[in-house]
This record gives sequence, C-alpha cells and structure tokens, in this order.
Amino acid sequence: MKQTTDFLKMKEKNEKIVMLTAYDYPSAKQAEQGGVDVILVGDSLGMVVLGYDSTIPVTVEDMIHHTKAVKRGAKDTFIVVDMPFLTYHLSVRDTLINAGRIIQETGAHAVKLEGADEVIEKISALTKAGIPVCAHLGLTPQSVGVLGGYKVQGKDAHAAKKLIEDAKECEKAGAFAVVLECVPKQLAEEVAKSISIPVIGIGAGINVDGQVLVYHDILGYGVERVPKFVKQYHAVNPFMIESIQAYAADVKNNQFPEDKHTFTMKEEELKVLYG
Ligand code: KIV
Ligand code: NA
Repeated sequence: MKQTTDFLKMKEKNEKIVMLTAYDYPSAKQAEQGGVDVILVGDSLGMVVLGYDSTIPVTVEDMIHHTKAVKRGAKDTFIVVDMPFLTYHLSVRDTLINAGRIIQETGAHAVKLEGADEVIEKISALTKAGIPVCAHLGLTPQSVGVLGGYKVQGKDAHAAKKLIEDAKECEKAGAFAVVLECVPKQLAEEVAKSISIPVIGIGAGINVDGQVLVYHDILGYGVERVPKFVKQYHAVNPFMIESIQAYAADVKNNQFPEDKHTFTMKEEELKVLYG
C-alpha cells in the first residue's frame, strides 16, 4: 500500500498519482483491482449515492458508514475521507473529535478538508495529532452557496495569486497533498510548481501531479450529465436498466425461472410426502 511519503516521492519522480472515489464495498474492490493509488471517500456520495442535490446534507455518520464498507472492499489501498460540511469549522477541538472518529472507527488513513484561511489551523492541528490531511482548493463544493454555483475558480490574476498563497499555507500547515478542483490549467501548473507536496487535479488540466475523478462519472453509472472535465470510459447505465427490464419481462412472461434456476425433490421423497 502506498502512503503519504510515497506520494511525495511520486511527485519528485514525475510519476502521476491516480485517485478515484469509492463509496461502498463493490466500488472499493473495483478501485483496488483497477490499480488506483488512493481511494477518496468523497462527500460527493451525498449526490451520486444518496441523491441530495449538494454535499451540504452529508454527515459524519454518513461518511463513517460508507467508509467502513470501502475499507472492507479495499484493505490494501490508502483511503482518504472527506470531512463533511461544518464539521471542521467550529473549533480545533471539534475538528479533532470528528476526524478522530472518522479515522478510528473506519480504519481510513487520512481526511480531506476544503479551503484555506480559518481551515489552516485545523490542518496543522490534525497533522500534529497524527492524522494526515489532504487539502482541497479551487472549487470547494461545500461553499457552493458563497461561490454562487459550481464555477471555474481563479480565473483572474488576483484570485489566482490568492490560490497560490493558499496552497503554500496548506503545505506549511502539514498537508500531504492538495486536491485542486476546476481551475485554469495555467494556474494549476503554477500551483504544482509552487509547492513540494503533490497537487491532484480535477478539472485542473494535465500539468499537475495526479488526477481524481468520481467513480460514477467515469463509469456513467446513475449519472445523467457529467461536467466538462470528466472523461467517461463507459456508460454502464443502459446495460443496467436493460438488465432490469429483461428480468421484469421474464417474470411477467413466465420465462423465469427456468429449470436450471430451480431446485427439485427426489421422486421417493415425493411418494413419502404424498403417500
Ligand atoms: O467529494 C468528492 O468526490 C471530491 C472530489 C471530486 C475531489 O471531493
Ligand atoms: Na468532496
């Protein structure tokens, strides 16, 4: 299993880091079999698994419940868990308690926090307490209300400068990596050059140290539309719906079950039964 120090070495050696989300036992097993370096139990689970229209309603309990299943499916992969909305803002103490629960109860290896500014002291406190932290800058979906929608971030020079400074602060506070979401590729490249910890991009172009995407997005599983930055490798949804339709039709038309799906009793046992 790769871990935080390996990710640093990978950046030094120009070896890309592959991160993918997973939310349950089968997706985690597939992610591990598919050879990802890091599994992210993203709070995107609120949207792609639980059907909410943002990540805001996701709770620590949700994250723990799903991460336990992920851990059972991927025993040999580094697992990062998103800290949900407002679980790392009230105080350093609350942050440590929430992150501590996530790590202790699930067996995951690290947590991810969105933002800089007031979050920097939390990154520092968690790292000092022995919990590795992945930062998350650029488009931070838990702040969608403040950002005014899911938009590309850091497009003007002023915002870009702030983002580069934020990334440096995250590194200084002890973060082992930064997820950088939805920023122009030139800015992402500059951020990756400005810090020695890996920058894992999503909608941040190719000149960063790794990429992360959402499991359901790359598979076309249960999702209708995907953002511009997603590459969809298959669209499994139609196969799944067709399978369900075929099963329903078989039942209605008495085509299922067939003999091969059916158990039988021996003749002699039937004689005893019916006399
Ligand atoms: O929740 C999530 O899936 C994420 C990734 C998109 C980076 O935070
Ligand atoms: Na997230």
